[in-house]
Amino acid sequence: MRLTPEQKEQLENLYQTFLHDEKILKMKEYSMHRGSNCYIHSFKVAKLAIKRALRHKNVNLEVILIASILHDYYLYDWREEREKKKKHARKHPYIAAEQAKRDFDVSKKVQKIIKSHMWPLNLKEFPDTTEARIVSLADKSIASIEGTIPKSVKKANEKETYEYISKLFDK
Ligand SMILES: [Fe+2]
Ligand SMILES: [Fe+2]
Repeated sequence: MRLTPEQKEQLENLYQTFLHDEKILKMKEYSMHRGSNCYIHSFKVAKLAIKRALRHKNVNLEVILIASILHDYYLYDWREEREKKKKHARKHPYIAAEQAKRDFDVSKKVQKIIKSHMWPLNLKEFPDTTEARIVSLADKSIASIEGTIPKSVKKANEKETYEYISKLFDK
């Protein structure tokens, strides 16, 4: 899929609105995958998902962008409580979807993508659209990279990482 400069600008603007939203900035408080945080993770997933989505013909890029930014919008530290720790993997997509609806009034389609991002862990929520599969796979790719990079390396590269996620489209 080829984007016109206007379409590109529109998506970039949407990305920037989320990037600077004060509710979204809260995701920085929740650590993830050894030395990353929920904010960095989500924007990395969004960038990768859009990059991959552009290889497809008929996908809704706006839906992919919003769903990937909000797929982990659960806003709690799951390591803090034992109960949460046990159920986090299965439950957080539902919490994220609900809070995304509450705070950003996202569509049913976006909510469904958020709920299915952890498939096949939760077999009930199959990613049944191309958009949903793109988000779910981008999440798994980013999570596995984040899981292998040591914490010290992530900390040392934090400035570059923030620089990297500061724009949807690289020059
Ligand atoms: Fe997740
Ligand atoms: Fe994630």
